[in-house]
This record gives sequence, C-alpha cells and structure tokens, in this order.
Amino acid sequence: MNRRTALAGAAALATGLALTLTGCSSANDEPELKVTGAFMPQPVDDMAAGFLVVKNSGGASDRLTSVTSPLSDDVSMHETKNGAMRMVKSFEVPAGGRLDLERGGNHLMFMKLKEQPKQGDKVSVELHFEKADTIKVDLPVKETTYNPKKQ
Ligand code: CU
Repeated sequence: MNRRTALAGAAALATGLALTLTGCSSANDEPELKVTGAFMPQPVDDMAAGFLVVKNSGGASDRLTSVTSPLSDDVSMHETKNGAMRMVKSFEVPAGGRLDLERGGNHLMFMKLKEQPKQGDKVSVELHFEKADTIKVDLPVKETTYNPKKQ
C-alpha cells in the first residue's frame, strides 16, 4: 500500500466514524418523557397532594422545574425526609430512569385550593421541565386513602 492510499483510507474511515457519532448523539442526547399513574387523593381541607411517575426513555436527564394548575396558584414540589415534608426547587428525571412521586415520598403540593375536587373529578396540571416541552396531564381524583401498587 502506498502512502496516498493509506491516507485516503484513513480519511474515509474518519468520515464514516464522524457520521456514526453524529447520528448517534442527535438521536440520543434529548430526554424522552412520559407521564403515567397520575392521581390526586380527594382533599380533606384546602390543600391537596398529587402523585405521578415521569419515565425518561431518552439519553439525557431532565428536571421537573415547576408545576402549574388552575386548582391552585401555589403548587410546589415536596420531598419527604424522616417523615417531614420539605420544599425542593426541582426533581431530577434521570436518563433512562424515572421520577417517582408517591405516597410517603416525593409529591406535588397544592395549597389554598380554589375549589375542593371530589372523587371522579379531574385536576389538570402542567409539568414544566428544564429541557423537554411542557406536559399537560389530568390527575383523576381518587378516594382519600387511595394508594396504588408501584408500576
Ligand atoms: Cu407536601
């Protein structure tokens, strides 16, 4: 093999490699989010909790940064540590993983409810993320003690 052929071969190889990498990263460096299992236990006073799971099948992590709803102007994100609730600024949705908002753990907190939803109602919320587009979900209102099995 002379020098010229070897260089041409290396260049072709490098180009092929670059194409492969580009194709790979553009398909894989974005979060792919899906919300399942959303519900709100029927509130007993003027606050309510919300639970759901955000699954991320994409190659990049994301963060749930805020939640809005017509039901309340004050929706926050809480974690539970040693039985006490604490407000957090955001929740991570890891790449290839999930964010679980569940009883006894992380949850959404709706304060100063504008009305009191009853079992069978639906409460609409918008989930705002750092990278992904806003996701709108309806939380079906379940009985106060409702606690589904983990999916
Ligand atoms: Cu709370």
